[in-house]
Amino acid sequence: MRLTCLVDNAVRPHSRYQGEHGLAFLVEAEAGRVLFDTGASGDVLLHNLGVAGVEPAEIDALVLSHGHRDHTGGLPALLARRPGLPVYAHPDLPRERFSRREGEMRSVGIPLPLEALRRQADLRLSAEPQEVLPGVWTTGEIADRPEPEGRSDRHFVRAVGAKPGSPWMADPYRDDMALVLETAQGLVLVCGCCHAGLLNTLFHVRRVFGRDPVAVVGGTHLIAADESHLRRLVEVLERMGPPTLYLNHCTGRAAYVTLALAFGERVAPFPAGAVVEWGEGSADQAD
Ligand SMILES: [Fe+2]
Ligand SMILES: [Fe+2]
Repeated sequence: MRLTCLVDNAVRPHSRYQGEHGLAFLVEAEAGRVLFDTGASGDVLLHNLGVAGVEPAEIDALVLSHGHRDHTGGLPALLARRPGLPVYAHPDLPRERFSRREGEMRSVGIPLPLEALRRQADLRLSAEPQEVLPGVWTTGEIADRPEPEGRSDRHFVRAVGAKPGSPWMADPYRDDMALVLETAQGLVLVCGCCHAGLLNTLFHVRRVFGRDPVAVVGGTHLIAADESHLRRLVEVLERMGPPTLYLNHCTGRAAYVTLALAFGERVAPFPAGAVVEWGEGSADQAD
């Protein structure tokens, strides 16, 4: 099982990959290729797919971690080149989402309405875990959230069925899901933004899949995590092995440094162009 970071805020030095505030991964499993998120723009996604040597027609399925534009912005360009693509996500994905900047509400949700999505893709919405290809699963909804979530106080939605002009409410991030890969080395957890919270997501994986992951990859939204949250995270990860952490996107510098100080070589950045492979031997991060 091979995982490539296709789109991220950072790019591997001296690579031809382009960067943007967004995220996308390419999973290459024995049974096929799965894209996890699409980055923020079609231009960057298509360029970086080209650098990875993959045609849109060669992608077997897409999983969307949640509706935010930095993860779904490349979707229209992708579907234009790969119509009928099976797309897996949570039923709350198509909901309109907003970000408040300087008092203004900006729309930051998925760029295609539900009807267009249904027309252009083979849409498979479920709050339950779904097997996308053999060994590649969505987590399903991370409903139990006793631990801190990965929240931003800028993110809002309108109540379901509310008319324009009705009050805003904090985004409940019900759509936030992660990906679970069953590799020869054990489970690998791949996060989009982890708005449900990394600890909640880890405990959900333990409950649903019966094991703790040997690696955690992606955006962990620890930007706003305070010291006690990070201390608890380090304790829990320690007891879990700890897993190897390949961190990017919305992880946050302070959290990255805390985790790197705690776990040393088990922590690495994972910018666009980075590749890791879990085979029969040990996990290899390709140069
Ligand atoms: Fe997000
Ligand atoms: Fe994000």
